[in-house]
Amino acid sequence: MSDFLVRPVAEGEQRACHGVLYEALHAPALSDEAWERFSPAFPAERKFAAFAGDAPVGIVSSRAVEVLVPGGALVPMASVDGVAVRADWTRRGVMSAMMAAQLADLAARGEPLAGLNASEATIYGRFGYGVATCGKSVRISSGRARWRPGLGGAGRVRLLDAQEAVKVPPGIYPECGPLRPGMLTRPDGWWSENHDGLVTADGQHRVAVHAGPAGDDGFVVFGTKDRRTFEDSERGASLRVVDLHGATAEARTALWQFVLSVDLVREVYARGLPVDEPLGEMFTDPRACRVTGIDDELWLRLVDVDAALNARTYFDAEPVVVEVEDRYLPANSGRYVISASGAERTSAAAHVRLDVDTLAMLYLGEWRASSLVRTGRVAVADADAVTRLDELFRTAEKPWCGTHF
Ligand SMILES: CC(C)(COP(=O)(O)OP(=O)(O)OC[C@H]1O[C@@H](n2cnc3c(N)ncnc32)[C@H](O)[C@@H]1OP(=O)(O)O)[C@@H](O)C(=O)NCCC(=O)NCCS
Repeated sequence: MSDFLVRPVAEGEQRACHGVLYEALHAPALSDEAWERFSPAFPAERKFAAFAGDAPVGIVSSRAVEVLVPGGALVPMASVDGVAVRADWTRRGVMSAMMAAQLADLAARGEPLAGLNASEATIYGRFGYGVATCGKSVRISSGRARWRPGLGGAGRVRLLDAQEAVKVPPGIYPECGPLRPGMLTRPDGWWSENHDGLVTADGQHRVAVHAGPAGDDGFVVFGTKDRRTFEDSERGASLRVVDLHGATAEARTALWQFVLSVDLVREVYARGLPVDEPLGEMFTDPRACRVTGIDDELWLRLVDVDAALNARTYFDAEPVVVEVEDRYLPANSGRYVISASGAERTSAAAHVRLDVDTLAMLYLGEWRASSLVRTGRVAVADADAVTRLDELFRTAEKPWCGTHF
């Protein structure tokens, strides 16, 4: 018998659970006043905690969102966050027990997908999550960045005051997303937890909005830092872009043009951008923009493999029988025949075998089956089937999430 018990968080237990989370993330505990403001974004609903006696020692949360999948359907997804275990309880299976409880709950709710952002890449594969989108980090040298001729439209960019900065972007985001596979809807709780604190007085970030011919159609959240010192007065400031969305390519370009026009800024940094955004190629000197990294972005979990496979569309190729292994939700394990018209269970012999985390890597189109064969993630009984799988799962564009949670 284990010395902890995993159960749903009850009303009144949120603050103690939040304390476990912030301590594990090395964040300062919230004052009574800050908790008063923040607590509506931390409801007991959809949270599981591990308790040792009355004290919470671990916590997992989720929120109901939707994710765009290839073909254009918006599919219910549990956005999993707030995963933490108290430092004196780690590596005793606390998180594993909480993840098992959460996955069983999500399956019972009928949510076909779950997704998360991982603090470390070694944690979540065992629970069936796979890297389903990636994002790139860039460093742009403002001095070198000259825009190629003809870029920029008739729109106008304006800065918002702190009150508008809280209110306006949630109204613009639905114009900008979800537009491509991997993008999420953003519920109110996402904004209060991830955005509001950044842009109000002490958060030190500003919001600029782009208005195109049909009205507001994009926004950027950014922060600046003055880096000048007594010894180096030429260093200027740096600017970091934390959230940039546009309903159109013109709106995105105009927002980039704005951040690069801010006086005294020498370098602009951004993370989690679409890997295929042609930022450097918009400059006369493409090396003005350096890609400094490509990181995993959305980790996806097919909670109901049948429903998830049938929620997306496929390109045309002869059917492939895929055998899926799911240790945490064994009802998913089995063989599926996937064709241009969808997926169904089959007793036919498998062409390929893979674990459910690998299926998640294929699902939005980030990876090709033939690439994953090389990683040892796909066992192949019929080599032609891999080529067909590449074609079936092909997507018109690279997936991108663009929402950190
Ligand atoms: C990550 C965390 C929740 C793991 O909790 P835990 O209770 O120690 O996890 P478990 O004991 O259930 O570990 C399950 C397995 O995952 C492995 N694992 C857990 N955390 C890991 C980590 N950070 N890096 C590598 N492996 C990890 C364990 O070694 C174990 O492997 P095993 O089954 O082969 O022995 C905990 O370390 C933590 O709170 N970290 C700080 C906050 C954080 O990073 N949260 C995640 C936010 S996305």
